Formats: sequence, C-alpha cells, structure tokens
Amino acid sequence: MKSLIYALLLAYLSNGVLSEKFRYDNYTVFRIHMENEEQMKVLKDLQDTDFRFDFWTPPEHPSKLVQVMAGPEDKDDLQKLLTEHNMIAEISMNNVQEFIDKQTIKRYTRNEIGSMTWNAYYSLEDIYAWLDDVVAQYPDVATKVIGGQTYEGREIVGIKISHGPGKKNIFIEGGIHAREWISPPTVCFIIHELLTSPVPENMAAARDFDWHIFPVVNPDGYKFSFESQRFWRKNRRVFSNGIGVDLNRNWNSNWLVHGASTNPSSDIYAGTGPFSEIETRSLSRYMRAIGDQMQMFLTFHSYGQMLLLPFGNTSEPLANYNEAMNIGRRAMGALSVRYGTEYVTGNIVEVLYEATGGTDEWVKEHLHVPIVYCYELRDQLQYGFLLPPEQILPTGLETMDSVVDLIHQMKRFGTMASAGVAGKASMMMLLGIVMEYFL
Ligand code: ARG
Ligand code: ZN
Repeated sequence: MKSLIYALLLAYLSNGVLSEKFRYDNYTVFRIHMENEEQMKVLKDLQDTDFRFDFWTPPEHPSKLVQVMAGPEDKDDLQKLLTEHNMIAEISMNNVQEFIDKQTIKRYTRNEIGSMTWNAYYSLEDIYAWLDDVVAQYPDVATKVIGGQTYEGREIVGIKISHGPGKKNIFIEGGIHAREWISPPTVCFIIHELLTSPVPENMAAARDFDWHIFPVVNPDGYKFSFESQRFWRKNRRVFSNGIGVDLNRNWNSNWLVHGASTNPSSDIYAGTGPFSEIETRSLSRYMRAIGDQMQMFLTFHSYGQMLLLPFGNTSEPLANYNEAMNIGRRAMGALSVRYGTEYVTGNIVEVLYEATGGTDEWVKEHLHVPIVYCYELRDQLQYGFLLPPEQILPTGLETMDSVVDLIHQMKRFGTMASAGVAGKASMMMLLGIVMEYFL
C-alpha cells in the first residue's frame, strides 16, 4: 500500500508539478545544405507555415547552412521533405536533451558576488540578485537602474557605472532573445571587468564613459526558457492565437519590412504595431532620455560569431558604414588574439539575413549613435544555443578584449560620423519622435 502511494506520488510529481519543464528527449538538430533558390523557398515556406520545426538559423542564403530542430514524431516528415527536394542534411545533435543537461545551472549565493563563477548559467532571479549585490559593493560608481517594464510585470533591471559627471555614454543590451543564454553572462562579465579589472585599459574604459548595462532586457522570456521551454525566444505576451512577440522585430524602425511575421505563433512575430510591447516601448524611453550623449550601442545575441552593422533592410553602406566597418574589423582582430575565435564583420543583410525592427536599427536611425553593433556570440554550427558552460569565461574574456579595443579606437579616431548623421535631423524626424511618444 505504502509503495503504491509512493508510486502514485512520483507519477504525479513527474508528470505535473515538478516537470512543467519541457523535455527534448530525442529531438534532433539537422544541418541542411541548400544549393539553389527553390530549395531555399521550400525551407522558407516551412518556417512560415509549420511551427513544429524550430529554425535555429533561418534559410536566407542558398549558400549557407540552416540548422533546424525537429521532435521525434516530426523528424521523418522533415527528412522526407528534404529528400523530395534533393537537399542533403547531416545531424548535428541527436538527442537535444543530452546537451541541455550538460548546461550546468548554478545557484548564486546572496551577498557573495564571487559566487557567480562564469562556468555555469544563472537564473533571472540570480542575475538580478547579483546586480543588487554588485551595486551594494561598489556604491560610489554603480547604481541600479530600471530600463523599463515587462508584460508579466517585472522590471528590466540594469546597472549604471559612472565615475563622475559630464561623460558621454555607452549602452549595452543583453538577453533580448531568451534562448541565447550566452548573452546575459557575457554582459555580466563586462560589468564585472569594468568594476574589478586592474588592467589599465579596462580601468580607463570604465572611467571615461557612463555605462548603462542591461544583461536581460527580456526577463519574462529568459525566465520561461529557464523554467519551461529551453528554446523560447520571444516575450510572453498572450494572444488568442499564440504567445509572444519577438522583441527584436518590434522596434519602430522599418517595422515589419523584412524577416518578420504577422502570425503570433511565429518565432519572429513583430507584434501588433511598432512598440506594441511594453518592453521595447519603455526601454526606448530610457534610451531616448540619454540618447544625445550616446556614443556607442552594443547588443549581444547568439550565435554565429558575427559583428553586425545596421541596417537590416539594405546592404547599402549607409551612415558611417566605412568607419564602422574599419573599427569593427580591428576590434574583431583584438577578439581573436586570445583563443583564435574568428568573427565576420559586416552589414546585417550581407552577413546574416534581412531582418528589421531591431534595437540596433532604431538606435542608429532615431538616436544617431555613431557606433552601433550587434554581436552574434559563439559558436558557429556546433552547439548553437546550447553553448557548454566551459565556454562562458573564454567568451567573456575575448568579448571584453574587443569592447576595450572599440573604445580605444573611438578615442583615437574620434567618432566624426555622428555629426553627418545628426545633421539630417529634420522636421520629419521631430514629428516622428512626437508621434512615437503617443504610440
Ligand atoms: N539574430 C538577430 C535577429 O535575428 C540579429 C539581429 C541583427 N539586427 C537586426 N536588426 N536584424 O534578431
Ligand atoms: Zn538573437
């Protein structure tokens, strides 16, 4: 009798309460080769219409590999489709759950900022607790800042690092896409280095600017990817026919022009209108308030090892494209020194794919920030979103090397382009700003 009760209890716990966490047993990740536009179209249609398949990388260039995850019941359908259209695919992960299990998750110990050890992933609550503790430990230079609010009522918490008034600022955005777990710890590592590093270049970088740093700008999504569905990307807004808006398609810059969907079930759903989401709307207010002093904006995504320049709708060399290319390439040289990690630098459309409505484009178009980059962090096509925790520290270190180099170059060459872009400010832009405020 006793054992029956135990068995029932166990069954209950493992099916219900404890296992709200979705498991990816025997999920497969395919690496698909395309050879022509027709094959690409087949995959694009699949991405737009069949949400059983999770496109880790979307089909945008016939010459590029596409990574798609399929569940055990669906993978035969995918393989059949591929065979029908003469596409070759290899398997890059056989049992996704196995790789998820290797992503060590640790608990942060309150009041011990050293217990965030850069070799494990931390929950939203732990990251927020760490930020609180960091602020408490460095009260002279660090303050807690609230960048905005979320659909589920959380705050977008960040940190401002300032060694005195009268400085230009740098804004860092992390974790806008929930499943890109390497982003928040990399951003936290930058905070850590700015506050603790004894290296003179790092200290100078910290001193010479005001830093506004937000490790997780999509906290609802991040929490959900930690506790329920590992590969969640969007925010958590509930619609009658789907959940979540891709916050990096929701900014008021070329909204819904490219690489975005009008279907709430899609992973790249752009929302009901530009800034329809409280996360982007509130964060944009924060950014606008410091926008005219913003010298550099960086956003951290994964994966692919790329440094991307706006804009996402055209490969035309707009704004200070040449300057940004030169500075970016050099910084990626600095990034590669430590471990030989190679990044490709270039315009979003050229290097990645057409996609508009991102933070980076809005910042460039509306705030005229001279230096704007989107990092796609490690790796390339191996672990993808499931980057092993042993790579967190190396990723942090090499990324910090590049950030310090960016600053060094900004100081050396000055960033002259800001004037050129800002010069175009017109009545239309002013009108745009006023209208946006009421959206
Ligand atoms: N992987 C990112 C995304 O698809 C890249 C963002 C680059 N910026 C952009 N505005 N498309 O959202
Ligand atoms: Zn992303």
